Formats: sequence, structure tokens, C-alpha cells
Amino acid sequence: MFCPGQAFEEHQLCSLDPIKQFAEWFKEVAACPSIGEANAMCLATCTKDGRPSARVVLLKGFGEDGFKFFTNYESRKGRELESNPFASLVFYWEPFKRQVRIEGHVERLSETESQEYFQTRPKGSQIGAWVSRQSSVVPDREYLRKKNAEFEEKYKDTDVPKPDYWGGYVVKPEVIEFWQGQTNRLHDRIVFRRPKEEEILDSGMTHQGENGWVYERLFP
Ligand SMILES: Cc1cc2nc3c(=O)[nH]c(=O)nc-3n(C[C@H](O)[C@H](O)[C@H](O)COP(=O)(O)O)c2cc1C
Repeated sequence: MFCPGQAFEEHQLCSLDPIKQFAEWFKEVAACPSIGEANAMCLATCTKDGRPSARVVLLKGFGEDGFKFFTNYESRKGRELESNPFASLVFYWEPFKRQVRIEGHVERLSETESQEYFQTRPKGSQIGAWVSRQSSVVPDREYLRKKNAEFEEKYKDTDVPKPDYWGGYVVKPEVIEFWQGQTNRLHDRIVFRRPKEEEILDSGMTHQGENGWVYERLFP
């Protein structure tokens, strides 16, 4: 375990599996009262011709299978992910001076998993999924208010079904970087990656992690 201002030596990694390392950092930051939404992350996507866009979404689960979030498949990010299924995620937890960067291939979650998650959401958020044609132009706020009232009326006595265009994605990590800020600006960066096929590791630079990962230290 390491704290801001404390050198982040490789031997202080909680685990040589970056998913477990993420879990440890996440547990610590989620328990910090001055961090309101530890699961807020910047999600960057890209059009097929290389124009990036970024926005904040909430992490709703992670594990060996990847990092999950939910959204509208017809939104700008949804359209970009359908045509170019790669994403980059960034967390920054200021009180801990920690950043985590994740890059990888993106897949849709199964319809069943999206359904299951949708059912756990508060009714207001479920109705919101029907109201919001996310990322398209709306005439004015009044239009939005009316649409919301219409759907509230429609589902006032029944469960709200999940719209077909709403669901989850999972980012399957290929690179995970842990950045620990230090007061002397000699910040620590440890990057886990999958080795290339038949790559011969330079043992002075690249170290064997767990579960098929290797890791390296980068200049800050
Ligand atoms: C703290 C925070 C959490 C958010 N969480 C989500 C989320 O989980 N899913 C989502 O679709 N949008 C979420 N948003 C809204 C997005 O930032 C964004 O406005 C929206 O998804 C449309 O993005 P797009 O037009 O690039 O597709 C969140 C915004 C903030 C500020």
C-alpha cells in the first residue's frame, strides 16, 4: 500500500496483476470521503478516421473480463465505438495524486447483462433512458420536460422496460498504467501491458507480471 508523497516502488505493488492492483487502489479511493464519485472516468473514443472525443461516464463494474459502463448505443460515443471499437479510460483521484489509464478493445455487454443492470436503476433513471435520445439535438428544455412527463405517465403503474438502444460496454484492457504523483515531481508510472507474440523481454527494463501481463516503469 502506498500514500501520496511515498515512493511507489515496484515491490510495493499490491499485486503483479493490474486488475488486482486497480481493485486495491479503487477500494482505497472509494472509501475517501472527499472523493464524491471515485467511479467517474473520462472515456475517449475515436471516429474511424481518427478524430477523438471524450466525456465522463461512470464505471459500473470491473474484473478480469474488463471495465464496464452503460450508455445509449446511438449516442456519439456509441456510434464511434460501433465503427472503431477501441477506447481509452482515465481516472484521476486528486486527494491521492493518482491517475489510472486503461486502453483496450471494446465490446457490447450481453443483452441479458444490460437488462439485469437496467433493472437495478432507479425508476427516474430508467425513464431518463427513454426520454434522452442522447447526443441528438433537442428543441428546448420544455420539450425535454414534456417528454419526461409523457414517459412518467406511460410507466406510472408498470415496470420500465429497457430500450433496445441502451446497454453496456466492456473495455478489455490491453494497457493499464498506474501513476502515483510525488511531491518532488519524480512521479511514478508503472505500465502493465500484454507482451507481443514471441517477444523476448529485456529483464533490465521489462518485468514479468501475473496472468500474462508484463510491466515497465516509464519516465514521468
Ligand atoms: C459525473 C458524470 C457521470 C456520467 N455518467 C454517464 C454514464 O454512466 N453514461 C452515460 O452515457 N453518460 C454519462 N454522463 C454524461 C456523459 O458525460 C455525456 O454527456 C453523454 O454520455 C453524451 O456523450 P456523447 O454525446 O459523447 O455520447 C456522465 C456525466 C458526468 C459529468
